[in-house]
Amino acid sequence: MSDKTVVITDASTNRSATLPVVSGTMGDPAFDIGKLNKDTGYFTYDPGFMSTAATKSAVTFIDGDQGVLLYRGYPIEQLAKQSNFLEVAYLLINGELPSAAQFQTFEHDVTHHTMMRESLKNFFQGFHYDAHPMAMSMAAVGSLAAFYHDSLDINDPAQRKLAAIRLIAKMPTIAAAAYRYSIGWPIRYPRNNLEYCTRFLHMMFEVPSEPLQLSPVAAKALDLLFILHADHEQNASTSTVRLVGSTGANPYACVAAGIAALWGPAHGGANEAVLKMLAEIGDAKNVGKAVERAKDKNSGFRLMGFGHRVYKNFDPRATIIREMCHKVLADLNVSDPMLDVAMELEAAALKDSYFVERKLYPNVDFYSGIIYKALGIPTEMFTVMFAIARTAGWVAHWLEQHETPDAKIGRPRQIYTGAPTRDYVDVEKR
Ligand code: CMC
Repeated sequence: MSDKTVVITDASTNRSATLPVVSGTMGDPAFDIGKLNKDTGYFTYDPGFMSTAATKSAVTFIDGDQGVLLYRGYPIEQLAKQSNFLEVAYLLINGELPSAAQFQTFEHDVTHHTMMRESLKNFFQGFHYDAHPMAMSMAAVGSLAAFYHDSLDINDPAQRKLAAIRLIAKMPTIAAAAYRYSIGWPIRYPRNNLEYCTRFLHMMFEVPSEPLQLSPVAAKALDLLFILHADHEQNASTSTVRLVGSTGANPYACVAAGIAALWGPAHGGANEAVLKMLAEIGDAKNVGKAVERAKDKNSGFRLMGFGHRVYKNFDPRATIIREMCHKVLADLNVSDPMLDVAMELEAAALKDSYFVERKLYPNVDFYSGIIYKALGIPTEMFTVMFAIARTAGWVAHWLEQHETPDAKIGRPRQIYTGAPTRDYVDVEKR
């Protein structure tokens, strides 16, 4: 909170409100409008939260104009180069990088909560064979609340931490089970002698009949993708987790709601949409036509993987991932015609005035889908992959929310545009 205030006066009624200015450590300040309605009779109207901070948070900072992304103050570029996903998860949750001993304990805890109860595993049998893995993952995560009564008391910090660990630990197990079920393969148990990403790849691809040959590049690439997707401050799914969390709902319900919000193509579903779009374009020679279609507002077609609500210059994650994308394809010796389409599309959009003027640059999802494809992960699983990574951010925000004294239930207001008060009319008179 700063000493600055802003006074808003309604000249017609002479009612005014003195709004304190709230400043964080970095970023734009905000007016605290908590008493605005009481003092003036006005609400604020901000569809899509274009100018509204819904909370204070110390987890992640974004400067969209400068292309800056910090987790707990650490630049994403440094974390991508020097850290690993589990360490980043620890950082997001606890606020500081772990010592070697703290990391060992955290890794041990996550590793030893990876198993699913057998009866939860059996839930998958209830789905139709072609169920989307997001639907299965969302349902399975929500159902964890039915199994872990020892971590449902949200007023107990130890139970909250336990739930956070469980969610980070079990998400890969659930995700891999959803995939295996959808292709009719037996669900694999997590192998605790492996690290987080390698363990996940084993659960995805290992078959009982032969050992899995796994390129170390695959786990490294996955780890990088998970770091880049781990958190992104108050995005739609994290805000959903917080909104549900504000009601006092249990952590598994909150994260299941986050998964639901992530599913949409304007959010986490974009990486799946990118691949579908590239397949639809089909060949680099069709890129020009696709760009023209995306510029035509009547076509209803947008270039998936371009543009971002917050990054209006460039997405720093896209810069890191673009480099990794080329490395992975070279190291895994993958030649993918979709990549040619993607590269052609990227080049065409970057020099087209429509995209340049609107600052529509490739975002993180433009490249992540191509890497996932190179790793053998099917398109329907892309958003699930995002959900595994984002679970770290979701639980970090959920924990932060419950450490905040006097937190209120989230309850937006509205501008009512319906019929004014009217009398009920009997059916024979209508
Ligand atoms: N292709 C063509 N035109 C676009 C696109 C696009 N991908 N994105 C925005 N525009 C145009 C839009 O039509 C509008 O034009 P005009 O000013 O003439 O009306 C202008 O650019 C601004 O668009 P907006 O919809 O007001 O921007 P927004 O900040 O509300 O939306 C967005 C951001 C990400 C939803 C949008 O850019 C989009 O739909 N992109 C494609 C989907 C996508 O890649 N989503 C993943 C986001 S990154 C992952 C994450 O963090 O969740």
